[in-house]
Amino acid sequence: MEPSFITGDNDLPASTMDGWEEDLLRRYPEGADSQQAGAFRNYEADARPCVREFYRLNHHKQTLQFAREKKADYLQFNRRRMTVWQALEFLNELVDDSDPDIDLPQIEHLLQTAEAIRADGHPRWFILVGLIHDLGKILCLFGEEQWAVVGDTFPLGCRFSEKVVFHEFFSGNPDREVSEYSTANGIYPEGCGLDQVTMSWGHDEYLYHAVKDRLPEPALYMIRYHSFYAAHREGEYGHLMNDRDREMFSWVRAFNPYDLYTKSEQRMDVAALRPFYEELINEYLPGEMAW
Ligand SMILES: [Fe+2]
Ligand SMILES: [Fe+2]
Repeated sequence: MEPSFITGDNDLPASTMDGWEEDLLRRYPEGADSQQAGAFRNYEADARPCVREFYRLNHHKQTLQFAREKKADYLQFNRRRMTVWQALEFLNELVDDSDPDIDLPQIEHLLQTAEAIRADGHPRWFILVGLIHDLGKILCLFGEEQWAVVGDTFPLGCRFSEKVVFHEFFSGNPDREVSEYSTANGIYPEGCGLDQVTMSWGHDEYLYHAVKDRLPEPALYMIRYHSFYAAHREGEYGHLMNDRDREMFSWVRAFNPYDLYTKSEQRMDVAALRPFYEELINEYLPGEMAW
């Protein structure tokens, strides 16, 4: 069953959205050494056709110009005004029309992530990251196709690392024809820092900008780079990082297991948890925000 918000000839069923996250578990199984030789290649060979097609679209269409245009548009935040809790409920519409047996509502993935962080005794802002880290997926509800919302993120305007999953699909990316973008550093000075780097467009970058003045720096790194697997899991793109990035990426890596390994069939009691999380939201992100 395809939800009505999905548009475009070459888009994918909504289940691919969650399919991408489920697929990360295949790529990075809990407790396994994913850096083992061949593990990555086997993952790509075994990937389901919808996941392959998702990455084909993503790698063909995420160009520097595309990301710059999306930033210029969405970072005006002129679409809606909502509280964080309203945005969570809005995001939940993403799975309303699809099979409830297959898809966990988005809010439950977020609450599972947050509850696991809370159970481990982490600071309140860290718990809040768990709750909101995927809120940027509301881009889908603003009409963006999935390849422009979810999936691994990577720097644009420089050579694509071979450690980005399905690297071979970059052969269809128009930026490959631009000689300025074909070196390791591309348009960036060595060690310039990731803040200077335009990342592929998606829910991470969007949410970062929505909250960037209001959360501690480690929280912002977790939000902005949680899908940058080539860096936080594969160790790539160090030549674009500065010392601050390297320090802060320990937080990105600390967050990642909560994102990947806390999904369970166990349903969350949203109503019972709501008072705790409303208070947490009000501590850092009170009132209506511009989206
Ligand atoms: Fe995410
Ligand atoms: Fe997530």
